[in-house]
Amino acid sequence: MTQRSNRRRPGRATAWRQRAFWTIYALAYDALWDAPLTDEVVAAVEASIEPGEPVLEVGAGTGLVAQRLARHGRRVVATEPAAAMRRRFQERCPQVPVSAHAIEELTPDLVDEALGRGGVVLAVHVIHVTEDPVRALEQLRCVAGPRPLVIVTPVRGANLAQLARAHAAAGRSRPGVAGFLLVHALLAPAIALLGPRPAPRRGTEGAEGSPPPSAIVRGVAEVVTLSSASFRASRATTRDP
Ligand SMILES: C[S@@+](CC[C@H](N)C(=O)[O-])C[C@H]1O[C@@H](n2cnc3c(N)ncnc32)[C@H](O)[C@@H]1O
Repeated sequence: MTQRSNRRRPGRATAWRQRAFWTIYALAYDALWDAPLTDEVVAAVEASIEPGEPVLEVGAGTGLVAQRLARHGRRVVATEPAAAMRRRFQERCPQVPVSAHAIEELTPDLVDEALGRGGVVLAVHVIHVTEDPVRALEQLRCVAGPRPLVIVTPVRGANLAQLARAHAAAGRSRPGVAGFLLVHALLAPAIALLGPRPAPRRGTEGAEGSPPPSAIVRGVAEVVTLSSASFRASRATTRDP
């Protein structure tokens, strides 16, 4: 995955805001998310894909998911557009190839090149931070071709208290949960000023909650995390034939 297309790049101001946000968030990302909750997410992902299938993880961040999948013996390739996140990815997973493509820049040829014939395309906690989640889902469905597409999403509008409860339910220590809350409180201004601003899912403005990805694109397995109860209780997997 060496080539880079120029398709659908964000405007300059948006690109600057995104770069600034992920540069700041990268400083704290591992402290926030290298945690039992991520182990649970990966276990749920593993349960929804065939053993031995290689995985293309898009928006792979600092490599927390990719590293766990690789430890389970999977061949993993990744994309991560934010340079600061990608640098940490490369330190964490030097053996996993990672390119700089955003979802909007992926093409079927790039995915074929990365995965060969089979494989699975995976996005963990990414779709809701893109500028246009519907377009991102449609793009992923298109470039994945016949391959399974696995989307991990937090419950819409999950707040900090829900996130903290999900971490605690997954087994994070009390000081760990307190640290998670504290770091997020410190990051609050950056999140408010620079954080992701996804457009509402088209046709759902004003609706109670977004439709699941399976209502937007065919053939998608969804894992929902971070509900108010606990991740384990809220996990729901849907797959279209
Ligand atoms: C919340 S992090 C999740 C990282 C990783 N998947 C994980 O679960 O640890 C979201 C990641 O999505 C990336 N991202 C944001 N917009 C993207 C896009 N349009 N295409 C691909 N990745 C994107 C960000 O740079 C960030 O690294």
